[in-house]
Amino acid sequence: MGKKLFIETLGCQMNSRDTEHIIAELNTHNNYTTTDILEEADLIIINTCSVRERPVAKLFSELGQFKKLRKAGAKIGVCGCTASHLGRDIIKRAPYVDFVVGARNVSKISKAIETKGTVEIDINHDETTYEFSDYRNSLYRASVNISLGCDKSCTYCIVPATRGEEISIPPQIILGEIKKAVDKGAKEVFLLGQNVNNYGKYFSDKNIKSNFTKLLQDVSKIDGVERIRFTSPHPLHMDDEFIQEFASNPKICKSIHIPLQSGNTKVLKEMKRGYTKEWFLKICDRIKAMVPDVRITTDIIVGFPGESDKEFEDTIDVINKVKFDQIFNFKYSARPNTQAETMTNTIDDETATKRLTQVIELHKLHQSELMASNVGKTMKVFFEDLKPNGEIMGFSDNYIQVFIKGSEELLGQIVDVKIVSNSRTSLKGEII
Ligand code: SAH
Ligand code: SF4
Ligand code: F3S
Repeated sequence: MGKKLFIETLGCQMNSRDTEHIIAELNTHNNYTTTDILEEADLIIINTCSVRERPVAKLFSELGQFKKLRKAGAKIGVCGCTASHLGRDIIKRAPYVDFVVGARNVSKISKAIETKGTVEIDINHDETTYEFSDYRNSLYRASVNISLGCDKSCTYCIVPATRGEEISIPPQIILGEIKKAVDKGAKEVFLLGQNVNNYGKYFSDKNIKSNFTKLLQDVSKIDGVERIRFTSPHPLHMDDEFIQEFASNPKICKSIHIPLQSGNTKVLKEMKRGYTKEWFLKICDRIKAMVPDVRITTDIIVGFPGESDKEFEDTIDVINKVKFDQIFNFKYSARPNTQAETMTNTIDDETATKRLTQVIELHKLHQSELMASNVGKTMKVFFEDLKPNGEIMGFSDNYIQVFIKGSEELLGQIVDVKIVSNSRTSLKGEII
């Protein structure tokens, strides 16, 4: 009989995709299938995030629980970004952990689970030519890595130290993976990387030439691909060619994540983001002018060391000018071995909390306004989930969540829907 794997995923979409790879590898090579019941698992894995302090603290409390609840003989492993950054220290602190496999070493998972004490955390391991076994947790959406690592050095960020140098995956691997997923029924492709629009700069094989715009064109030529999304692009690499493609290619969802971090040019400089407040506003203006119903989402950090009240006001000013559809906001969290870690002009927690609240409240006003403006519009909605209350949920072309009364046969279909009402975060509609 096959063995059972319980896997918990923290962190971003890259980590979720790594989890799919881990499940696929352990299924193909080690005969594991997944379970949601921790107590029946033969192998328990936590795929970790270290971008802020809180998920790291969570790792050790989760591990304690796993140890308590696991069935006799079940193995426990730690994967992902905290595995990369803490390595063997995890086993020192929690000796019952059997193995540690970093975010850049997923291809080592099959062997790692066999030998107690294995630690695989080489952050520059080249996994770009490695084709993983096939598994996706969504019928309709295929998440596909297009690059690994990050070539930036934002001073607050631990990711370059956990995922290593940026490297682009060859287009033939990406396109092949997408074709396979489409053959199995996927209609939506989600291209993933820390700087997706920097794609093509770092192929291991120097003879390969491509860039992000070219990749988008190649992906959209695949029969059966109906929607293309990507995350995260970097504001620095939004060239005209890319914006033109984003605006004009009907398969590309009109939703874009443009991480601001701070609206103040001096803070941006200290974060080493490489752009100014004006540059960011110009990019958003250009995209809005070319893509009328575009949905713009962002990430904001408040309380970066040295951020004065006046500097923070620039962040508020940018929020007021762009009116983001969604903001992922964070209080700055000092991370080990980053440049900002040693900055001494830290902001007290009370001030950071006050700023965070201000961002959240302002954003809520914008969200209500933006969502209400959708009522009466017709949207193309891709339905993917049946809710217990008889509603069916999908996403519009600009990636807003839409609910209608409907049944199973709509799953996997893209249908015209008239929007009849809204809440702050979703829409209700009717099929036309
Ligand atoms: N490559 C992506 C970011 C990945 S990390 C990008 O550049 O957009 C996701 C988000 O976490 C970042 O955009 C940032 O807003 C936040 N973040 C990263 N490090 C942080 C830290 N030390 N404290 C608080 N938030 C942080
Ligand atoms: Fe981190 Fe900056 Fe790289 Fe994003 S671009 S992963 S924030 S270093
Ligand atoms: Fe977290 Fe690593 Fe993603 S630190 S946000 S899981 S890249």
